[in-house]
Amino acid sequence: MKLLISFCLLSISCGCLSLAQVLPTTTTIPSIYTHGRVVSRLAPGQPAFQLPLFFTWPGSALFTYWTGTTITVTISNISFWQPEIDGIPQPKFFSPADTTASYSFSAANAGTHTFTLTKLNEARAGTATVTGLSVDPAGSFLQNPGLQLPSWITSGRRIEVFGDSYTVGYGNNVMQSNCTSVQPVYQQATDPLLSPVPLVADHFGADYHLTAWSASGLTASLQGSPNLPDFWRRGDATNPSSSWNFATWQPQVVLNAIGSNDVFAYSPDSADQFAREYANFSLSVQSVYPNASYIVVSYAPDTQMFGDPNQAERYQQYMAAAFNAVKASGIKASFLQLSGVNQSANSCTGHPDAIGDASMARDMIDAINTLQPW
Ligand SMILES: *[C@@H]1O[C@H](CO)[C@@H](O)[C@H](O)[C@H]1NC(C)=O
Ligand SMILES: *[C@@H]1O[C@H](CO)[C@@H](O)[C@H](O)[C@H]1NC(C)=O
Ligand SMILES: *[C@@H]1O[C@H](CO)[C@@H](O)[C@H](O)[C@H]1NC(C)=O
Ligand SMILES: *[C@@H]1O[C@H](CO)[C@@H](O)[C@H](O)[C@H]1NC(C)=O
Ligand SMILES: *[C@@H]1O[C@H](CO)[C@@H](O)[C@H](O)[C@H]1NC(C)=O
Repeated sequence: MKLLISFCLLSISCGCLSLAQVLPTTTTIPSIYTHGRVVSRLAPGQPAFQLPLFFTWPGSALFTYWTGTTITVTISNISFWQPEIDGIPQPKFFSPADTTASYSFSAANAGTHTFTLTKLNEARAGTATVTGLSVDPAGSFLQNPGLQLPSWITSGRRIEVFGDSYTVGYGNNVMQSNCTSVQPVYQQATDPLLSPVPLVADHFGADYHLTAWSASGLTASLQGSPNLPDFWRRGDATNPSSSWNFATWQPQVVLNAIGSNDVFAYSPDSADQFAREYANFSLSVQSVYPNASYIVVSYAPDTQMFGDPNQAERYQQYMAAAFNAVKASGIKASFLQLSGVNQSANSCTGHPDAIGDASMARDMIDAINTLQPW
């Protein structure tokens, strides 16, 4: 009851006569909390979040503790979502464009629960704002849940990946037979929670940032996507003038998996130029993450991923040159050559399915174990 009262005092919109506990709403959009997973103000020792929360990056999530049987989230605008109660996935749902609607989820009993809501779709497939979060009248949000916090909060371990469609899980959640019939693929057929880096993060009990964008390259992109050097500093993925505060979240491991779309775009036309720009970008990364282990990731020379063997070979040359240039620039980096991904019946326009993603994750785990950051 004491908690409930303090919430009402803080809140602009929640009526003190209502017993339902509603998180306070504010007028600011704290974009720094929308990049990766968010720990609610209700978990001890963690940064607060305030509503509304603006979601742009794939795999970004909010997380909170609560008691009661029903939790309701209000969302404006277009995205595809994975809700979880107590870590158990609930059916995914779609929030339509230019619409504000509420979605409720029930727990099996009125005990203490967690709620996680992850935005699955890429920034290019839509952004959305969580404007409300409430629990049923008998329930409350918890200041001190009395539960063991998840290890991705307590471990302090953090992984960031810079990448493209392969690291975002493009098309990993659809059968090949109807890959192109699910439109847009990068929205509902893509599940970043099954993509390599979140799997790696789960293995190590780490938090992650998926700074990735389908069709993006380092020097050239396809389908109008921005180049990595143009979007990696953004807090709001869709706003070129927004800037992420790197000091708030320092990863120990950074995987750079960019480059395949440069090869698809046939730009730049020399491995040397690509390597110079890759090293230059890597120095920028080092300047914001000075203590991180930096891994240059090269996808497998899997011809199905690259369309034709010449393209695959060219990609391998570019990545080898890039790694050499990174080393020559004085950055302490390692090279990860991913092993082949068996393109099973479920690949989507040359992209691995969830089984292929898991295979890439295993290679990344081995590479991180070799570096021994944890
Ligand atoms: C929904 O998002 C689109 C861009 O993705 C934006 O143009 C539109 O204004 C948004 N609508 C609302 C109601 O916020
Ligand atoms: C995709 O194809 C499978 C098998 O043919 C089918 O069961 C499923 O419903 C289809 N999904 C969509 C979204 O069309
Ligand atoms: C090197 O990186 C800096 C900072 O990211 C950028 O402004 C510059 O254009 C880059 N130079 C080249 C040659 O890519
Ligand atoms: C990097 O490590 C050094 C030495 O431990 C430390 O002083 C510094 O604060 C660290 N920098 C960041 C950004 O974490
Ligand atoms: C690749 O996947 C196909 C289809 O799932 C399977 O039949 C084949 O045995 C796999 N090959 C390898 C080398 O794993």
